[in-house]
Amino acid sequence: MNPQVDRNGALRHFLSTEHLSRVTLLKILDIAKSFLFATDRQVKKVPLLRGKTIFNLFFENSTRTRTTFEIAAKKLSADVINMSIQTSSQSKGESLLDTISNLSAMHADMFVVRHSQSGAPYLIAKHVAPHISVINAGDGSHAHPTQALLDMYTIRHYKGKFEGLRVAIIGDIKNSRVARSQIYALNILGVSEVRVIGPKTLLPVAIENLGVSVFHDICKGLDNVDVVIALRLQKERMDGLSLPSYQEFHKTYGLTTQRIGFAKEDVIVMHPGPINRGVEINSSVADGESSVILPQVTFGIAVRMAIMSFLAGQIK
Ligand code: NCD
Repeated sequence: MNPQVDRNGALRHFLSTEHLSRVTLLKILDIAKSFLFATDRQVKKVPLLRGKTIFNLFFENSTRTRTTFEIAAKKLSADVINMSIQTSSQSKGESLLDTISNLSAMHADMFVVRHSQSGAPYLIAKHVAPHISVINAGDGSHAHPTQALLDMYTIRHYKGKFEGLRVAIIGDIKNSRVARSQIYALNILGVSEVRVIGPKTLLPVAIENLGVSVFHDICKGLDNVDVVIALRLQKERMDGLSLPSYQEFHKTYGLTTQRIGFAKEDVIVMHPGPINRGVEINSSVADGESSVILPQVTFGIAVRMAIMSFLAGQIK
């Protein structure tokens, strides 16, 4: 059974892009669009989640995700509590589920969870009362579905469609929860090809089974693509063996202006952040005219608003 849906088949938790339907993904993107007012792109405040209490539980560091979730919840008029995990009773040995039970007793309606352990948001989703929703804000190297959705939003914003697009994801795919969630979403939405580019040591075994073509040569991999997504080397999740030196990685796989020249002329360059300049991407590309890295962050607010209001049943 899909752990994200309730007995009636309605989406209750947002844990992974893997089992979502095309209709649901497009619905969320459309709701997000309705939150972005065409004229000034300002997301205005709406009362959809007034009276709801949302706990932001970040057991791992974050800049963009935590902040845009907070902004999104506030724009929906919810009460947001940012739990500071370092100063919480977790540091006194309280278990994760005991913490959740206590926060539930404070009338929580939604938990936004980031955790270094893959599966932690699933454990919480199983444990909570039926009126509570859990959103996965990144679990280990497993999934980061809200990032993938804001990336899909960005692609549709600039390209207008998914059909016919060639998308290349480049870098440390093996340790990336973002890449996995993107690959599922891109295939569900029907792009014509998803490519992954990187050295063997940074690609998961049997990645082809997820519906991607594999390239080790960056110039061939970038040939004629519409979208390039660069990823950081996630050294915090690497075993020593797969870590190439930064210089060597940059020499072979770094995104330079010259290499971007192999892609289509109107290519867009994306990155979930944080970017490591001079490693996976040069400043000339990150700040260049093809880059949509900062718009991705802005779209993240509307997309997270859309996901939260959809789960709360406020928009059908
Ligand atoms: C990513 C993450 O934390 O998974 N960043 C993000 O959420 N914007 C990618 C990364 O850490 O490299």
